[in-house]
Amino acid sequence: MDANGMTEICLHQLTLSGVREGERVIVLSQGNQRIDYADAFLAAGQRLGAITYHMRLPAPIPTDGTWSVGKTGLAANPEAVEALKQADMVVDLIFLLFSPEQMAIQASGTRVLTAVEPAPLLARLPPTTALRERVEIGAELLAKAGTMRITSKHGTDVTYKIGMYPTVAEYGYTDQPGRWDHWPAAFVFTGGADDGVDGQIVLAPGDVVLPFNTYVREPVTYTIEKGWITDIRGGLEAELIKSYMAEFRDPRGFGMSHVGWGLDHRAQWHGLTQFPGGMGMELRSFYGNVMFSTGPNNELGGTNNTPCHLDIPMRGCSLFLDDEPIVLDGDIAVKEMQQR
Ligand code: FE2
Repeated sequence: MDANGMTEICLHQLTLSGVREGERVIVLSQGNQRIDYADAFLAAGQRLGAITYHMRLPAPIPTDGTWSVGKTGLAANPEAVEALKQADMVVDLIFLLFSPEQMAIQASGTRVLTAVEPAPLLARLPPTTALRERVEIGAELLAKAGTMRITSKHGTDVTYKIGMYPTVAEYGYTDQPGRWDHWPAAFVFTGGADDGVDGQIVLAPGDVVLPFNTYVREPVTYTIEKGWITDIRGGLEAELIKSYMAEFRDPRGFGMSHVGWGLDHRAQWHGLTQFPGGMGMELRSFYGNVMFSTGPNNELGGTNNTPCHLDIPMRGCSLFLDDEPIVLDGDIAVKEMQQR
């Protein structure tokens, strides 16, 4: 995509995000990553009359390559965090999610938009107000439920006690003070009670393991008791998941993290093959997927801040809230939430 095209999609993004004349918008990047995104957001902000600048952190010191969440270059840079707290909106081109620094920036009233996916994907899945409405309908249903049960013909049957943690709606832009979102996104989630998740989850061939960014080929069976994974078994993917989780040497990685479903009818299940450089937002969003995840729940206000986090979008599942069908065999069952 050329620079003009990138600026146009960022202009659409910032317009929906409510950026207006005189607002302070900071674009945050590190090293030489996404400099073209920064330029496009700056140009878009300027066209909307915002006061905008680019904060560029040094490239992170190379590590062993493990993708761990919540540790950012802002941790040792309180002056930078203070500056970001002064902004009305921060465009995060790094991926600050799960970090205490992002939480502090949001708590000050600054809204935060993460944009790290490949540019062609940003262009193909622009946020819309119609999609937001459908996501918010899902969030309303989720917020008033007490239990979530997920089943599948592959053997999944797991029940989450919910209601202890807030419900989060992601629809790909943010126009409210202190609110975070991620572009692209169209899904809702909450977390189970710390000791309130029990049952079995069976990943089926074709389900997606993030951050491996791979499709499961052989079933993987998780046993979950009182909110903790007690067993993972299966073939190659089960061994890879166990090996990855063991590397963190952190038993809290076996906790249960967020859970919910996706609503973007434009998102494609084969998105990983089309955009291999991304982090899988298209898969998290695709219509009728049920996504569970493991590890931290501090994003929702819990105490588990382990850096060991996997998101697993699954196809063909059914999801019930207080026994009411929400997703049936991978299709949205509530009329107001359906694609249109
Ligand atoms: Fe996640």
